[in-house]
Amino acid sequence: MAFSSPRALLFAATLSLLGFAACQAPEKSVKPGINKPFLEATAEDIQVFVGIFEGESREIAAASDGIMAALNIQPGMEIADLGAGTGLYEPLFQKAVGDDGRVYAVDLSPAMIDHLNQRVADENLDRVTVVECSATNCGLENDSVDLIYICDTYHHFEYPQTSLRSIYRALRSGGTLAIVDFERIEGVSRPWIMNHMRAGKDVFRAEIEAAGFEFIEEPMVDGLNENYLLLFRRP
Ligand SMILES: C[S@@+](CC[C@H](N)C(=O)[O-])C[C@H]1O[C@@H](n2cnc3c(N)ncnc32)[C@H](O)[C@@H]1O
Repeated sequence: MAFSSPRALLFAATLSLLGFAACQAPEKSVKPGINKPFLEATAEDIQVFVGIFEGESREIAAASDGIMAALNIQPGMEIADLGAGTGLYEPLFQKAVGDDGRVYAVDLSPAMIDHLNQRVADENLDRVTVVECSATNCGLENDSVDLIYICDTYHHFEYPQTSLRSIYRALRSGGTLAIVDFERIEGVSRPWIMNHMRAGKDVFRAEIEAAGFEFIEEPMVDGLNENYLLLFRRP
């Protein structure tokens, strides 16, 4: 490119520097404070979360057989439960991957991590490795897992674009990203969901596709009414 004067050259250089700075700017939180209850939880709080997350009145607990069938986990797979919480799915995942597989139970809450470590010891979950992550990085090695399961957690991502980049790196080529989250439909969803969730399924799907994942399907799972399951592939 030819510049007609030193002033034009300076102008172009400034513009490109500004563009570079914009590209490097850290992503802003899309929902500040949403993880406060988990980040500040005590051991007593975790017992309350066990009751909330693992009770049969919760769709995700009651529909676990259908969700597991849709995930199609094979023996020997290495998989991650990102935002594992109290570890509801860890015994099921350990059974599905078998003796040659590995489950990474990942969370950012120190109290959840303590609880997960205790659960692994108490229930002999020897195929489960607990990983403490950050709000911007899933804490997994590059190309290390065949499936990442994100249940009731994507809407807790404060930095979805940055998190999705690290998830993309962690998934092996051809690996599956599975998202379970709440439907958020104006006039239909409960007020709590409308307030708590920053967006609904279509927005989340678009964000995930924009991060480079290919949409595979939305399997219908018996017992999931307020929640949906979306499956994506890392190309
Ligand atoms: C609503 S709980 C769901 C727990 C579990 N997946 C379940 O469905 O029972 C959300 C969990 O995600 C964790 N979390 C929030 N943001 C996260 C992030 N960026 N990476 C990993 N975990 C996250 C929280 O600490 C919390 O344990």
